[in-house]
Amino acid sequence: MSSLEQTLSIIKPDAVERNLDGEIKSFYEKNNLKIIKSKKVKISKEEASEFYKVHQTKPFYGELCNYLSSGPIVVMILEGENAVSNNRQLMGATDPKKAEDGTLRKMYGLSIDKNSVHGSDSVENAKIEINFFFK
Ligand code: CDP
Ligand code: MG
Repeated sequence: MSSLEQTLSIIKPDAVERNLDGEIKSFYEKNNLKIIKSKKVKISKEEASEFYKVHQTKPFYGELCNYLSSGPIVVMILEGENAVSNNRQLMGATDPKKAEDGTLRKMYGLSIDKNSVHGSDSVENAKIEINFFFK
């Protein structure tokens, strides 16, 4: 089954810092994800804590929020057939060491925390995350 969906992508500070945003954007476009909106922003620790609040009980939560607010990020709305699952596949596993060849995290990720990209994990969360950045 296929359906036209939107999902949220974030190019995280480690990738923006290495000027990988152009390459990552063209990777999405080549793989049937159209960039509907894109902006470079720097968020506060409070905003990062709100964005990642589903992880608030995890041991890595504090570091994760520090990290996402540590430098500029690029947030994008991606649209395409099955955009949510397509983007998750293109991203690869959370830990770049476990990510499959050809995925963004395999190509660019530095470590489990500095893993270059975020992508929504469900259509429902995509709507919440898109609304968070693009109201
Ligand atoms: O990003 P993804 O949906 O693949 O993973 P997650 O389980 O939702 O975790 C969110 C983010 O927390 C990851 O992308 C990592 O940057 C970070 N994380 C971490 O630093 N250490 C872990 N053991 C797991 C996740
Ligand atoms: Mg996640």
